[in-house]
Amino acid sequence: MRKNIVAGNWKMNKTLQEGIVLAKELNEMLVAEKPNCDVVICTPFIHLASVASIIDASVLGLGAENCADKVSGAYTGEVSAEMVASTGAQYVILGHSERRAYYHETVEILEEKVKLALANNLQPIFCIGEVEAERDANKQNEVVAAQLASVFSLSAEDFSKVILAYEPVWAIGTGKTATPEQAQEIHAYIRSLVADKYGAEVADNTSILYGGSCKPSNAKELFANPDVDGGLIGGAALKASDFKGIIDAFKV
Ligand code: PGA
Repeated sequence: MRKNIVAGNWKMNKTLQEGIVLAKELNEMLVAEKPNCDVVICTPFIHLASVASIIDASVLGLGAENCADKVSGAYTGEVSAEMVASTGAQYVILGHSERRAYYHETVEILEEKVKLALANNLQPIFCIGEVEAERDANKQNEVVAAQLASVFSLSAEDFSKVILAYEPVWAIGTGKTATPEQAQEIHAYIRSLVADKYGAEVADNTSILYGGSCKPSNAKELFANPDVDGGLIGGAALKASDFKGIIDAFKV
């Protein structure tokens, strides 16, 4: 059975001290009241080791927001998948639209990153999604299909460790959210692509998260869709009470 997951993407926010305070607060909330879904926080690299040492891995997973597309060596400023794993992190966000747009990460670069993440036992949270002009031109299906090429070269066994996140770029940080119908429609399409490639069972077991201005007030109706298995949360992951409000969308 596929998992419901709420993952936070802190982006380039929070000093180390602020990050520790937020992680502790969230951890305490989740220990006191066990969540009905998997919960993950993805933090800047420099927070990982400290956060790993203070959270309870049975209620809160930890991930990075990126990793290098090279194994090791003379790549000044880069952080490898092996280094991320050595902090105790279990996940890594790859292919976020901000990485694609501002750091020119291509399908090929992302394919390397995904492979290195998996080789180091990190679960990729692989992001796909169209920009506004592509949605306006009704090209969202072909855009996400092309982006999936980075993960569709994997074996079925490796692909089954990948979490997908559909994040329409026009909804990220804009306050504009995909409607539950728009989310369901494209999530079902993404799942059908996975089924065509890897078969119905793998597709059925793939978690597909929605991301883009998800907040406590809209999470429940988004996650209620049969093909929406949780969320990747930016802004609302920076305050423990907001993030908890989204996690609580899975409360029965
Ligand atoms: P947002 O970001 O929730 O602030 O829109 C989501 C993301 O970029 O992962």
